[in-house]
Amino acid sequence: MRVGVIGLGLMGSGIAEVCARAGCDVRAVDVVEDAVTAGLDRVRASLARAVERGKLPSAGSEAAFARIDAGTDLEALCDCELVIEAASEDEAVKVGLFRRLDGIVGPDAILASNTSAIPISRLAAATAHPERVIGLHFFNPAPVMGLVEVIAGLHTATHTRERAEGFVRSLGKTAVAAPDRAGFIVNALLVPYLLAGIRMLDTGGASADDIDTAMRLGCGHPMGPLELADLAGLDTVAAAAKSLHREFGEPLYSPPPLLLRMVESGMLGRKSGRGFHTY
Ligand code: 3HC
Repeated sequence: MRVGVIGLGLMGSGIAEVCARAGCDVRAVDVVEDAVTAGLDRVRASLARAVERGKLPSAGSEAAFARIDAGTDLEALCDCELVIEAASEDEAVKVGLFRRLDGIVGPDAILASNTSAIPISRLAAATAHPERVIGLHFFNPAPVMGLVEVIAGLHTATHTRERAEGFVRSLGKTAVAAPDRAGFIVNALLVPYLLAGIRMLDTGGASADDIDTAMRLGCGHPMGPLELADLAGLDTVAAAAKSLHREFGEPLYSPPPLLLRMVESGMLGRKSGRGFHTY
């Protein structure tokens, strides 16, 4: 299967890797050459780690990397059967991409978004064929996490959903059907928890290390909320919180000022080297 991936950031590069490891031919596109290079470096490092951890034979890693063809031209996606958009969480950017993609891909192609929180029906409305638009929400790190949320919009056709679910299974992941509401299932539950951790830190209730240690050892979570926010990307967490807050108007979704100031200051978590912790 030929799969297009738009955006070679943290999620896009992970998704491109997952698809290539499952045997798909991947066309990956980002806006600038530097982002393409950085994304491919990320894929290479993750594949090396998979080999190191015994998850993948070295020949499989090389074959997977060779299946990824990356560049900056969106038109290169013209013969993809499925395109997964994983650009930054900016609604205007995503709407613009869906509008353009609609005119680039063939009539049978599925257009999917990896958005964390933007309703799929809103992205579908930017296209002339909303029946082929769907949400496929992966989790970070994509090569490790077993879930993909599948989000049908109001106009998504049954055959689009069935093909998308089959695709998720072919990646070795589990699909859950999530409602087309901001945050879907996971982020609607996870984001308020992450924000509560940030508020606790901001009000001086506990240190970042203690908050994370408490949730790791007290609840058996693999990571505490601040480490997890750093892993997901603070810009992504803030964008998801804003979408949820706009949709439901509830204070628990309101992004805390500390989170907003950190994003404005370029402290984006792991990917920028600094967030609630230093990397
Ligand atoms: N490819 C394949 N497998 C890999 C791999 C790779 N590149 N790198 C690591 N692995 C495997 C390892 O082999 C190991 O598998 P095993 O348990 O079967 O031996 C497993 O992944 C864990 O790897 P490590 O031992 O290297 O790392 P840790 O044990 O420190 O775990 C972690 C790292 C998987 C990130 C773990 O801390 C974790 O699960 N954290 C929570 C992540 C999470 O909640 N993500 C969701 C974020 S929210 C999101 O993405 C939504 C967005 O919209 C905001």
